[in-house]
Amino acid sequence: MSMGVGKYEMDELRLVVGTMVILSVATALLVVMPYLLLKDTKPPAKLAPYTDTQLIGRQSYIANGCVYCHSQQPRDIAQAPDALRGWGRASVAADYAYDTPHLLGTMRTGPDLLNIGARQPSRDWHLGHLYAPRAYTPGSIMPPYPYLFEVREGEARAGEVVVNLPPSHAKPGQVVVAKPEVLALVDYLIALDRTYPALTAEDDLAVDRKAPR
Ligand code: HEC
Repeated sequence: MSMGVGKYEMDELRLVVGTMVILSVATALLVVMPYLLLKDTKPPAKLAPYTDTQLIGRQSYIANGCVYCHSQQPRDIAQAPDALRGWGRASVAADYAYDTPHLLGTMRTGPDLLNIGARQPSRDWHLGHLYAPRAYTPGSIMPPYPYLFEVREGEARAGEVVVNLPPSHAKPGQVVVAKPEVLALVDYLIALDRTYPALTAEDDLAVDRKAPR
């Protein structure tokens, strides 16, 4: 009898030790190594930190689920023709220095947006597109976001931003006014621009060599 109990005790020990080993290897590979590789990554000089308004817009991007359809990670030409699609060079870790949490995304129902600000810098276009995507891209499957706007009969009040819809979608006598949250969202979209050259590993070494030791 005692032999049997001993055998099972041995199995428990193996199970616990085995679990610890697997967890330690996984933690080393998925947490410790990436940390060591990326901890010295500095924000690129040409990348400005987000302003307060852009950060509010970023929250609105998350809250409205934009990340479920749009990635923010143009890939290398060896993996996907993103550069040919006009989405920009492959992104590098430093491009996300001010992004917590990052919004890499996993789905590409719509185009990658990491460089949308460089590709489409018009606030009018973004506001109109968010109000009625199909007014700008016929047959678009992007949902419209009417609740980010106020539709009113008559005139806009002083200081309000009116959406200039194409004549096909504008209703006479009606104004579409952008709410502050969509203005912030568009500020954020226009700030998405990583078209400066990526710092390569060689550049990094060159910088290190120049630094006094
Ligand atoms: C259900 C998927 C879906 C969701 C959710 C979605 N989009 Fe889109 N988006 C698309 C598709 C598809 C296109 C391409 C057609 C078009 O231009 O409307 C697109 C296009 C765009 C474009 C133009 C990109 C370009 O390269 O011209 C912008 C900007 C954009 N979306 C922003 C947003 C924002 C901001 C949100 C959240 C408020 C959002 N999208 C939510 C699917 C989506």
